[in-house]
Amino acid sequence: MKILVTGGAGYIGSHTVVLLIEAGYEVIVFDNFYNASKESIRRVEKIINQSIEVIEGDLRNRDDLKSVFEKHTISSVIHFAGLKAVGESVEKPLKYYDNNVNGSAVLCEVMAEYDCKSIIFSSSATVYGDPHTTPILEDFPLFATNPYGRSKLMVEEILRDVYVSDNTWKIILLRYFNPVGAHESGTIGEDPNGIPNNLMPFIAQTAVGKREYLSVFGDDYDTKDGTGVRDYIHVVDLAKGHVNALDRIENFKEVMTVNLGTGKGYSVLEMIRAFEKASNKKVAYKIAQRRAGDIATCFADPSYAKEVLDWKAEKSIDQMCEDGWRWQSQNPNGYKGIV
Ligand code: NAD
Ligand code: UD1
Repeated sequence: MKILVTGGAGYIGSHTVVLLIEAGYEVIVFDNFYNASKESIRRVEKIINQSIEVIEGDLRNRDDLKSVFEKHTISSVIHFAGLKAVGESVEKPLKYYDNNVNGSAVLCEVMAEYDCKSIIFSSSATVYGDPHTTPILEDFPLFATNPYGRSKLMVEEILRDVYVSDNTWKIILLRYFNPVGAHESGTIGEDPNGIPNNLMPFIAQTAVGKREYLSVFGDDYDTKDGTGVRDYIHVVDLAKGHVNALDRIENFKEVMTVNLGTGKGYSVLEMIRAFEKASNKKVAYKIAQRRAGDIATCFADPSYAKEVLDWKAEKSIDQMCEDGWRWQSQNPNGYKGIV
């Protein structure tokens, strides 16, 4: 079965491609390399010891997408491609609506034209806004606080409408909590551009000496130690969730919406300590102001994923930090500088 992976050269996509091929699927990667390096594909090819067909193109360009479906009979699409920087989305909302929302709509149109009606979409826990309680269940109220989050909600809604119009579609919406870590080989991982916005890459870059210290955004939240609590999930566990979803997609009779998280919450200070232990390096930090738009606590109730996908996150916080450190220390500049 040929699976089209949009955004397959990116952080979560590249890890998922490894697991899909290991599970016996044939994979075609579609990416415009806006936020990815061709080196990530070369590294994936090394891990799986075979070459991957990569089609360079943009979601918003019908002809780029059509060329994929003309050449291959695709049975399902795993749709990772999108922009994900929250701050940038506030400054450039139209860029996000065009890329993430319009791009997804064009993708669905072209899929329908070629009678491929099976899609797994990368959504985010950000669609729960500031949840009234935790752990978070899939039927909690939805609310976006920024254009990035709204673009995810809009695509979820578009896909639900597509299903209402034609219930032969198979649609799974996966809401990721906080993906971290890297493949255990240390050869693929997250490679943020410029100063990282997210906690784990910032901690890793501080440990490796690229950043002087980490700013801890607030220590006066109503949490175990006053710092923000999140559900960090190993990217390989997350990738496995996609394989399980794909294995079962044909059996579902409605749009499935599933949290992918561990169900455990760790604070910023706990993450710093875990990373120090894994790396044997000191992570200098200073307490700073709260970051606008942040919430105190966010973690999943992952029981529905167990029930419908037979999936459960297995890797511990120590493994997330060890694998993240292996990637960071072996590739202090990520994929940059490699041509
Ligand atoms: P990433 O930036 O590493 O990967 C996205 C990939 O999509 C990149 O390779 C990029 O070049 C490609 N891309 C972007 N726009 C494209 C377009 N118009 N046409 C073709 N390719 C395009 O991001 P990631 O962390 O791997 O995230 C994958 C998906 O998961 C995204 O949709 C993101 O919003 C979602 N998500 C990520 C997180 C996270 O913390 N990483 C959390 C929740 C949801
Ligand atoms: C961020 C995004 C969210 C996205 C998620 C996963 C924002 C406002 N939200 O959420 O939309 O779905 O990433 O990609 O950007 N922290 C620090 N110092 C730092 C960085 C982070 O103390 O330098 C803290 C934060 O305050 C938070 C925790 O670390 O408590 C995790 O932050 P981050 O990795 O950015 O993830 P989210 O806040 O969950």
